[in-house]
Amino acid sequence: MKLETTYKSNNYPIIVEHQAIDHLHQFIKDYEDVVLVVDEHVNHNWHELLDFITSENNAHKLIIPSGETTKTLSFYEKTIESLLAKQLTRDTCLVAVGGGAAGDFTGFLAATLLRGVDFIQVPTTILAHDSSVGGKVGINSKHGKNLIGAFYRPKAVIYDLNFLETLPYTEILSGYAEVYKHALLNDITSVKNIETQYPNKQALASLKDIEYFLFKGIETKLNIIVQDEKESNVRKYLNLGHTFGHAVEYQFKIPHGHAVMIGIIYQFIVSNIILSTHFDISHYIQYLKALNYPLDVIHSLEFDSLYELMLKDKKNDQQGVQMVLLNAIGNPQVKHVDKATLSQAFDILSSHFEK
Ligand SMILES: NC(=O)c1ccc[n+]([C@@H]2O[C@H](COP(=O)([O-])OP(=O)(O)OC[C@H]3O[C@@H](n4cnc5c(N)ncnc54)[C@H](O)[C@@H]3O)[C@@H](O)[C@H]2O)c1
Repeated sequence: MKLETTYKSNNYPIIVEHQAIDHLHQFIKDYEDVVLVVDEHVNHNWHELLDFITSENNAHKLIIPSGETTKTLSFYEKTIESLLAKQLTRDTCLVAVGGGAAGDFTGFLAATLLRGVDFIQVPTTILAHDSSVGGKVGINSKHGKNLIGAFYRPKAVIYDLNFLETLPYTEILSGYAEVYKHALLNDITSVKNIETQYPNKQALASLKDIEYFLFKGIETKLNIIVQDEKESNVRKYLNLGHTFGHAVEYQFKIPHGHAVMIGIIYQFIVSNIILSTHFDISHYIQYLKALNYPLDVIHSLEFDSLYELMLKDKKNDQQGVQMVLLNAIGNPQVKHVDKATLSQAFDILSSHFEK
């Protein structure tokens, strides 16, 4: 399956299929230098394939630590200096092979190496169906996540679904939150379809027909980002579940998507309070339990510290916290929410988990 962005210029293809990696050669064959920047766990599981690609294309391979440890200024400095030591020219292509962390980091390297060289995303997690599309690249600062970065489009996204075979279930859950979020932003049929396809852990772990849902998720994101690349209006909708979710993620260091799912439930509660919607909170909690999301963290949440963190959310303005809320499934809006409402919603969330 293939999609293409629809910007006015500088569009890029997104190829989503098993064995998509076979397309990589055609995109990298004409560069003077090619560097595969590979997540260490991906390299561990897939080194034969990656070594074959490296030798076939006369490319370099650079293995990077997994996860957020790679998205630091110190690791960025070390890596960019080592690339410069290879005397690369601007006719270089960096290929990110890994999840969102490898993609964000490699994209930022590409955006800044010699004032910009080309890069290609080869996502290997479910979550990266989201992060590899849209051109946001960057690393973390001590002041917060993703605060050092750029908007920098890849030349292609080559999403080989075979990589998902080695993904642990906890990472499947993390990525599934963003797939589910995209369904919520779409319409009620998308949500019913995805809940029917993946009613429980066993079904989700099988990843049966996941290509369809990843494709739909990418399509949803594309529709939004081509209208608003730099997040001045509708791109904010992609933050559904992230206001509360980011606060929980930051405080408890749990995987991004686990926290976003909790944020999605919280957002439903806030919508019920201030938009008079009638979302069935018990249904969503039961669904997360059936998928085996680790929800114990909810017993440890404490409103005041989470509120402090929500005050730092990038969507806020001088009037305070702004959240993405659903008027109905498929109908998001960004709305100010006052502290009393946030606190009330927190109490309702907690009451669903009282023993
Ligand atoms: N740029 C964006 O628009 C955007 C959007 C959402 C999230 N993000 C970023 O994405 C990152 C999260 O992405 P992620 O969830 O993919 O995390 P990740 O890149 O940290 O990968 C998660 C874990 O899975 C391992 N892994 C990756 N692929 C594997 C495979 N095929 N088999 C076995 N193990 C594998 C990694 O080593 C890591 O331990 C965060 O840094 C977040 O800020 C960026």
